[in-house]
Amino acid sequence: MKILDGKKISQDIKDELKKLVSNRIANGLKKPHLAAIIVGSDGASLTYVGSKVRACDYVGYDSTLIQLEESITEELLLEQINRLNKDKSVDGFIVQLPLPKGIDEQKILLAIDPNKDVDGFHPTNFGKMSLEMESFIPATPYGIIELLDRYKIETSGKNCVVIGRSNIVGRPVSILLSQKSKKGDATVTLAHSRTKNLKSITRNADIIISALGIPEFLKSDMVKEGVVIIDVGITRVPNDSSPKGYSIIGDVDYKKVSKKSIAITPVPGGVGPMTISMLLKNTFLACQRKD
Ligand code: GUN
Repeated sequence: MKILDGKKISQDIKDELKKLVSNRIANGLKKPHLAAIIVGSDGASLTYVGSKVRACDYVGYDSTLIQLEESITEELLLEQINRLNKDKSVDGFIVQLPLPKGIDEQKILLAIDPNKDVDGFHPTNFGKMSLEMESFIPATPYGIIELLDRYKIETSGKNCVVIGRSNIVGRPVSILLSQKSKKGDATVTLAHSRTKNLKSITRNADIIISALGIPEFLKSDMVKEGVVIIDVGITRVPNDSSPKGYSIIGDVDYKKVSKKSIAITPVPGGVGPMTISMLLKNTFLACQRKD
């Protein structure tokens, strides 16, 4: 069984980007600049955004963090977005999700300039991705594809089951895996909460990507011998014996499922770190496009 070490691959990608940034500077070009807007003080969101900013420092990007009150109005948030759309020094930016109740997420995502939408959530980018046109690919699906690629896991002709149909992970990764492209050509089933007889579907899968957010949902009797498992789940579960007071638990019963797998991502240290490095990659591409 091979552990798909997202932490290591993510570090490799960051080191590659760091070199590319040094080359840009040596050639008199600007550093990439990523901005992030966070609304409210949700612990998990603050942790993710903090990691994104630290990763920017590591690779040598400029970064800007805009923290806004939970009570901010939609109108004022749209003003901040417009400001970033116009700011020539900013190559790309993200609005950390989820947003507080009362703010229309779709309206906010639509307001982001697609050329700066390094999350790839704007309909223009999502549409282009779906049509296999050049676009920003959402960071988590992009990270999964990159991980499969760097570990040389064959997807062509494989039965691939994606569990969870979110716009951020499940749906885009299902689209990418079915395309005629790198790490595509798979036969994809997108399963979700209304799927019947899930076990009969997952037991046929060569590759399972679980993006549900239900701790240890995928049990060993749901998978076949020799399966490849990509676990996107990162649920915080209270744990008094951990210094943080919680543990991060994936969607997969790792201990038992790993025994039947030929390759599996751990949680933490699998898909999570890949998301950050692919966001940095998109930001580099956004910066390069502006040259
Ligand atoms: N919330 C959970 N994942 C993501 C992500 O990839 N980008 C943003 N902006 N918010 C998120």
